[in-house]
Amino acid sequence: MTGVPAMVLTGVGAHLPAQVVTNDDLSEVMDTSDEWIRTRTGIRERRRAAPGETSLHLAVEASREALKATADGATDVDAVVLATMTPDRRCPATAPDVAAALGLGRVAAFDVAAICSGFVYAAATAQGLIAAGTARRVLVIGTEVMSEVLYPTDRNTAVIFGDGAGAVGVRAGPPDEPGAFGPFDLGADGEDSDLIRVDGGAGRAPLTPGRPVTRDDYLVMDGRAVYRRAIPTMAASSRAALARRGWAVDDVDAVIGHQANVRILDGLCHELGVDTARSVVNIDAVGNTSAASIPIAMAHAHERGAVAAGDKVLLTAFGGGLTWGSTTLTWPDLPIA
Ligand code: UT7
Repeated sequence: MTGVPAMVLTGVGAHLPAQVVTNDDLSEVMDTSDEWIRTRTGIRERRRAAPGETSLHLAVEASREALKATADGATDVDAVVLATMTPDRRCPATAPDVAAALGLGRVAAFDVAAICSGFVYAAATAQGLIAAGTARRVLVIGTEVMSEVLYPTDRNTAVIFGDGAGAVGVRAGPPDEPGAFGPFDLGADGEDSDLIRVDGGAGRAPLTPGRPVTRDDYLVMDGRAVYRRAIPTMAASSRAALARRGWAVDDVDAVIGHQANVRILDGLCHELGVDTARSVVNIDAVGNTSAASIPIAMAHAHERGAVAAGDKVLLTAFGGGLTWGSTTLTWPDLPIA
């Protein structure tokens, strides 16, 4: 291969915890209703990790699926890039534990913290590792146990978020090969960093011996303000990624957007001028799984045949930071695991 290698998709995988939490289940513990949640978010149910089931466990299972489904049968990996806002521990990162659990040997492994855009940032990082020749095969993971940071009766957050993990295998390859990713568009706006946050246990609300658990230890989100920014920002970022690839909006066969709210996904399609039938939607069954959302949606789209070999696919995310990111890929001919 001559020139800078592209990043090519070789496999996708997802893993969800077994426990299903329905909207009716939530209505029993907070002031909400199935009707409100369905119509305002598109969510019917989400999964919740069992006690002791952490981001590591979900990531390992999703990664096994992604590697099992590897189109060329190769499972060697020389870097693990993992996106999460709910790591197993504050220190160290979760990626080295995943690499060890998968028996990958002493490969590079680190976490990326870009919240709901985390997977897109992690994939862009993997593309950089591949382009620079630092790695040839990378496992890119998004994994979250959001239930750890949800205040149990906060209807602003507890109805939306769910637990799960998704993973993709990527490798160096020629840019015209099916599966090749295009350039990324990434951005952030720290002026609005307060809109989605967990302050507790870090510099702004440090741990002190005997300190009681407070509301700061849980996720706080100004949903309405985030909603207002999500659609125009994802649309602009999508257009930038498409322009860098040289694709028109009409070329796009499937949009895999961050599953934050079905109204945001529909609004994004309207803003871009894409038929909503091309939007991959699985939020109804998984809720908003933050950094895990896009790789889970990729795996589910593959399983359901919502994406086919040769399709031109747009990925786009927006969330805490604020952060956003988009990219493109052609869907490769992947076996169904
Ligand atoms: O993942 C990364 C980033 N996150 C997002 O992208 C999330 C973006 N935001 C959203 O998806 C939406 O803003 C929410 C789903 C969080 C909220 O939906 P909304 O349509 O923006 O609702 P709202 O906050 O404007 O509230 C509308 C009404 C209010 O009642 P009043 O003031 O009109 O009487 C709320 O008190 O709905 C009420 N409400 C609820 N009612 C029942 C808010 N949450 C609930 C609830 N159940 N869970």
